[in-house]
Amino acid sequence: MPPAPQELRAALAGCEGLLCLLTERIDAAVLDAAPRLRAIANFAVGTDNIDLDGARARGIAVGVTPDVLTEATADLAFALLLAAARRLPQAAADARAGAWRTWEPSGWLGADVDGATLGIVGLGRIGKAVARRAAGFRMTVLSTADTELAQLLQESDFVSLHVPLTPRTRHLIDAAALRRMRSSAILINTARGAVIDQAALIAALHAGEIAAAAIDVTDPEPPPPGDPVYSTPNLLVLPHIGSATSSARARMTELSVENLLAGLAGQPMPHPARGC
Ligand code: DGY
Repeated sequence: MPPAPQELRAALAGCEGLLCLLTERIDAAVLDAAPRLRAIANFAVGTDNIDLDGARARGIAVGVTPDVLTEATADLAFALLLAAARRLPQAAADARAGAWRTWEPSGWLGADVDGATLGIVGLGRIGKAVARRAAGFRMTVLSTADTELAQLLQESDFVSLHVPLTPRTRHLIDAAALRRMRSSAILINTARGAVIDQAALIAALHAGEIAAAAIDVTDPEPPPPGDPVYSTPNLLVLPHIGSATSSARARMTELSVENLLAGLAGQPMPHPARGC
């Protein structure tokens, strides 16, 4: 389990370097409690858990793990897309529960992926890797690099989120955005949970405003026991496993250590966070 904030502050009192996970919130209070800190290596490419401005102001270098998790995360986004389109969780659960009694012409019907329109929100490294996969399925790809978000939401059969979590992208997909989507549309999120207004998503799924959502990230993480994300119909939830392949995690470890050692040696980090 991640350390409690007071444990983290106490542990960092005399530290010059920190290798942290996305579960650790490195805010101003933590930075203030670590006056000797010079280097933070985040074991993630996202930096929403770190007060980057605060680190910069204190002269603390911050490093991340780009590129090495791009393909693994894009694979997972596509796995979620396919699973939600073809209703794999429902079909597998029914098979296990003994509900597979015969082959039915209208049993477990899903949506076509081949030739469908995919809207990619955030055409960075991972968004581009998802677009490459979509080409193999002959999908029409719209992205926020060249299409207004409102239009993309209206015209897409699938919408996949690949923006970092910032004040500008928090709740980017809110009730109004969900209402713009097609009632047959499927929303995929492998970015950060808070890019979606989760309460609005749950309401939209109950109201049938969109067909399904498949999310690897939630707000908060993990959702507490009994949270509606676990029981909302047509909502597939994974426990933040986008980069969870053995090789991606091994490379993330290498990059984190490289960043930390460089920072401690007073050298530029090889994989700095934006602006750090
Ligand atoms: C990241 O690196 O930001 C991912 O969310 C962890 O896989």
